[in-house]
Amino acid sequence: MKIAIINGPNLNLLGKRETDIYGNMPFEKYFDELQKKFPQVSLYYYQSNIEGELVSELQKLGYTYDGIILNPAGYTHTSVAIGDAIAAIRTPVVEVHISNVHAREDFRKLSHVSGKSVGSIFGLGLKGYELALQYLLSTGK
Ligand code: DQA
Repeated sequence: MKIAIINGPNLNLLGKRETDIYGNMPFEKYFDELQKKFPQVSLYYYQSNIEGELVSELQKLGYTYDGIILNPAGYTHTSVAIGDAIAAIRTPVVEVHISNVHAREDFRKLSHVSGKSVGSIFGLGLKGYELALQYLLSTGK
């Protein structure tokens, strides 16, 4: 199975950024551990700070990958284009947020992504990515 993890803006700063909210682990380290834990899965990681690049990556992977785990970060709350890209592709997308977006500022309660995704996980820290992966494995071929 081919599963992609796509992270949006500022998630390249995990481990350095607001560690009280997002924790101390750089994503690359977490990704390596995840790949070791799931050797039967071909995992791919992409991160961008640019909205259009995230749309292009969804389009690129969205007809050949078996699943996409997407944390659009700040674009979750603003990007109609990312929501449209998820609706356009065939690959199922699971939305993940590290923090509990519903326990934070009101503007984080709006997601342009949730309604287009098969499901959403928020507030469970980095563990959310692994749970999304387990879900995709359980439903995939
Ligand atoms: C986030 C939550 C977003 O509101 C925020 O803009 C992020 C990270 C999360 O993973 O908790 O950058 O997506």
